[in-house]
Amino acid sequence: MSFACVDIPNSIAMADHQPVLLAEVLAFLITRTHSKLLDCTFGGGGHARAFLQASSETHVTALDCDPEAAGRALPLEAEFGKRFRFHDLNFGELDQLEANDFDGILLDLGLSSFQLDTAERGFSFRFEGPADMRLDPRVGQSAGEFLEKATKVAIVRAIRDYGEEKSWRRVVGAILSARGTGTLGDTTRLAALIASVAGGPPWRTSRIHPATKSFQGIRIAVNRELENLECALPLAFAKLAPGGVLAVISFHSLEDRIVKRFFRRMSGKPEHRKDSLPQQFRICRANLLTNRPVRPTEEEKARNPRSRSARLRVLRKLENQPKEN
Ligand SMILES: C[S@@+](CC[C@H](N)C(=O)[O-])C[C@H]1O[C@@H](n2cnc3c(N)ncnc32)[C@H](O)[C@@H]1O
Repeated sequence: MSFACVDIPNSIAMADHQPVLLAEVLAFLITRTHSKLLDCTFGGGGHARAFLQASSETHVTALDCDPEAAGRALPLEAEFGKRFRFHDLNFGELDQLEANDFDGILLDLGLSSFQLDTAERGFSFRFEGPADMRLDPRVGQSAGEFLEKATKVAIVRAIRDYGEEKSWRRVVGAILSARGTGTLGDTTRLAALIASVAGGPPWRTSRIHPATKSFQGIRIAVNRELENLECALPLAFAKLAPGGVLAVISFHSLEDRIVKRFFRRMSGKPEHRKDSLPQQFRICRANLLTNRPVRPTEEEKARNPRSRSARLRVLRKLENQPKEN
């Protein structure tokens, strides 16, 4: 598929917060003038606005679990009226949304630049702030509380499994030793602690801070990001109209693996190399529209470095769903 012909309004392409893989997402999701779309990750509203601007007949339902996203949705409500609805909802609880039969659904995973660039949210070690890292600060534990109280097994899962940090033993040891000192609840002190024990090139000469992977792992654990994604994919699929399209943009291999396996399962294919389920037990409910993930162009990566690791996978629900046994 060629994406170059998709017209991206200047107001979107030029905004500070740049929606990732926008032309590609539009090409897959906007296939007719009357579309009913669901944006499960509203963020700054970049994709949602582009959907609404693509045709005056498009209707968009958007959700986000970050309470601050609701404020960013207000201008779209004012501008597009009944064509746009926002819900303060976690996509892991998508079954609570009443609407169904969407022609297209998007999940653009991860963080928005608003979250990353706000010191008080505690996602980044670039700013001094409380190590919170919750997408929805109204629920659950902050990162600092998690690191103070969680079992060693849970901390290992965050640093080794979710962060894929090679020096996980030293990082976990340092975290456990620092309990009760106040270090774990402060972004810059936590990052310095991790940097003091993590391996890799000297970080002042490297482009990647040595706490990057551990911060990612802690954030994934605190927000139950993989669990929410596992729940959301079948719920989103169930909300597609026949022939509807599900598009997911992921930013790291753990998310992408979940998406890839779910998409392969829905299209009646083995989920992975060791999946030996006989073919007669597989059910094909969808067609894969992307055999390999779509990646940003060099031009997009240069313009928007946050798009670097983005991977888009898309599937189309079959018009005629096979009957359940
Ligand atoms: C990368 S941003 C989306 C950016 C958006 N597509 C745009 O163009 O502005 C991801 C958003 O998804 C939200 N999010 C992440 N996990 C979520 C979940 N489980 N439920 C609802 N929203 C979630 C985050 O709060 C964040 O605002």
